[in-house]
Amino acid sequence: MADNIKVELTTSPKQKPDPNNLHFGELFTDHMFVMDYTEGRGWHDPRIIPYQPLVLDPSCMIFHYGQAIFEGLKAYKSKDSRVLLFRPQKNMERVNISNDRLCIPPIDPEFAVQAIRKLVDLEKDWIPQAEGTSLYIRPFIIATDSYLGVRPSKTFKFMVILSPVGAYYPEGIDPVKIYVESFYVRAVKGGVGFAKTPGNYAASIKAQMEAHEKGYTQVLWLDGVEKKYVEEVGTMNVFFKINGEVVTPALEGSILAGVTRDSTIDLLKNWGVPVTERRISIQEIYDAHEQGTLEEAFGTGTAAVISPIGELNWDGKIIEINKGEIGEISSRIYHSITGIQKGELEDPFGWTVEV
Ligand code: COI
Repeated sequence: MADNIKVELTTSPKQKPDPNNLHFGELFTDHMFVMDYTEGRGWHDPRIIPYQPLVLDPSCMIFHYGQAIFEGLKAYKSKDSRVLLFRPQKNMERVNISNDRLCIPPIDPEFAVQAIRKLVDLEKDWIPQAEGTSLYIRPFIIATDSYLGVRPSKTFKFMVILSPVGAYYPEGIDPVKIYVESFYVRAVKGGVGFAKTPGNYAASIKAQMEAHEKGYTQVLWLDGVEKKYVEEVGTMNVFFKINGEVVTPALEGSILAGVTRDSTIDLLKNWGVPVTERRISIQEIYDAHEQGTLEEAFGTGTAAVISPIGELNWDGKIIEINKGEIGEISSRIYHSITGIQKGELEDPFGWTVEV
């Protein structure tokens, strides 16, 4: 199926980075995947070309109205040199959920997975193997009509770029301090909160910056109407362990259906740990802490995998969670997911796809 993807190889390969000194999202590999959409013609001209800047007209719709979506997934190289992708089909299906909300024409998820496999195979020497590293895959779509009216674009570009990465947060798997955001909101039901679209992230930066100034790594988002219910933590889904039960906000339209969230729920069910998707108020979290039943809190996302929460500050009320240390369940989920991703643990769910 990927046979119709033309490949143009670079004539000036870059030097590979030191795998022991990688940060997140700073370096890019030698090649990228590109495919165009034209109304009446559909998606066409899939190709792998040398990594290069784009030439776009300043009037391109992406620059003005943000009609765009993106994804994030990772490739790993196992100790026996197999190249593994983690649940790529799930990410490509989510592209179409985001596309639908942003009035972008659907892609063929199967074809997109094949394109990613072909690109990652070509770039497999870029996959770092040091602890905590991987090759981050960033598929994205932008509206490319040269037009200033507000309407759906008639042309788009689907691209995939690759970045060898280390930990997303400098803290790595160490617990982070989180500021409960009670002024800014991330999304509302009926909006675009469930779509992976740049505007959600642009809108979140100010709250993140203000949290940084107060000494916090990220914010905990509350619902956009009552500012009462927990939604996400930074760019991640959020989980709490209260009295032996793991709870996470239900998918009600304003939060992203994370692939790591879904994997976490499947693992917990498989282990027989009670897990519930429901509304959780921030007051409930504080009450549980008061009663001594708040055992753990953590974020889940592709970039950081698991990020334990060691402290919350809600309007000046500061609570410490699990003595500021990584909890048993957070640690077990982290090691299970990364173990499956790296091909070091059995994959009973069939999540990994060999390139
Ligand atoms: C993730 O947690 O994978 C994200 O969405 C972070 C990304 C915006 C870098």
